[in-house]
Amino acid sequence: MSFLEYLESNLPKTDSFHPHFNEAIEWILKAGGKHFRAQLLIGTAKAINPSCVPYPAALAVELLHAYSLIHDDLPAMDNSNLRRGVATLHVKYDEATAILVGDALNTEAFRVLANSNLPADIAIKSIQILSKNGGLDGMVIGQAIDCYFENKKLNFNELKFLHLHKTGALIAASMQIGAVIAGASDKECDKIYEAGLKLGLAFQIHDDIIDATSNAQIAGKPTNNDTFKNSFTNLLGVDEAKRIRDELEVKIVDQIQNIKVKELILDLINRYLKG
Ligand code: IPE
Ligand code: IPE
Ligand code: MG
Ligand code: MG
Ligand code: MG
Repeated sequence: MSFLEYLESNLPKTDSFHPHFNEAIEWILKAGGKHFRAQLLIGTAKAINPSCVPYPAALAVELLHAYSLIHDDLPAMDNSNLRRGVATLHVKYDEATAILVGDALNTEAFRVLANSNLPADIAIKSIQILSKNGGLDGMVIGQAIDCYFENKKLNFNELKFLHLHKTGALIAASMQIGAVIAGASDKECDKIYEAGLKLGLAFQIHDDIIDATSNAQIAGKPTNNDTFKNSFTNLLGVDEAKRIRDELEVKIVDQIQNIKVKELILDLINRYLKG
């Protein structure tokens, strides 16, 4: 079974007389997306222990990520009408539905991890990693800084902090959870997390480049939307952003010791972080 098949047969749903709440959850989850974080989590786990295929943990990370996108698109944040090539949830339904589907997917992520058949200590560790990196000390503070500092210019180190938190943390956490589930040593997990942060930074720089250079048809979301944002392209220009991204990618691969994890990262970089 592929991760996509697993996702589609394990879509969160609730039993109620709400006319479209389950359908709204399906709307965002079935619209596509690269499943970059799931691929990283599963790929890292498999690279360390080939018999390990942690689909529930990968699903948890993708649910939390989907929640972050739904809220990111709301009028109070980026006010986007297109996501994954389809109408955003608040446009298709309404703002209350979008906020609440986001809330549901956020908590559901932790239910999936807690209910997975992982050994209790590994489940708790995974929940600790996901809550730290997806919440207050990770994605949420990154998003808060991103929104608060619209139209207020940050310096280079502040911009790095913003990107490492809003995007780097969850990407690094995906790799770390994969490594923890596969039974890697604490030292190996820490190294993988450090490389994951760099990969996440490169991922967000690339996302900034997409905004500056691509179009909605290809990106599946509005482009030229970051005009008032602190982005690598706005601060340094597209060419310099590309140079920093490429330099980071070389450093990441150098830093990874495990040859199979190295192959995984090179493959993902070549598929998603070029151009
Ligand atoms: C978009 O994430 C938001 C960022 C953190 C840059 P993705 O580019 O992974 O979005 P999907 O999941 O493929 O739609
Ligand atoms: C969002 O960054 C990162 C999240 C944590 C959701 P962006 O606002 O740049 O993501 P896109 O470009 O809308 O996908
Ligand atoms: Mg945003
Ligand atoms: Mg956005
Ligand atoms: Mg963006």
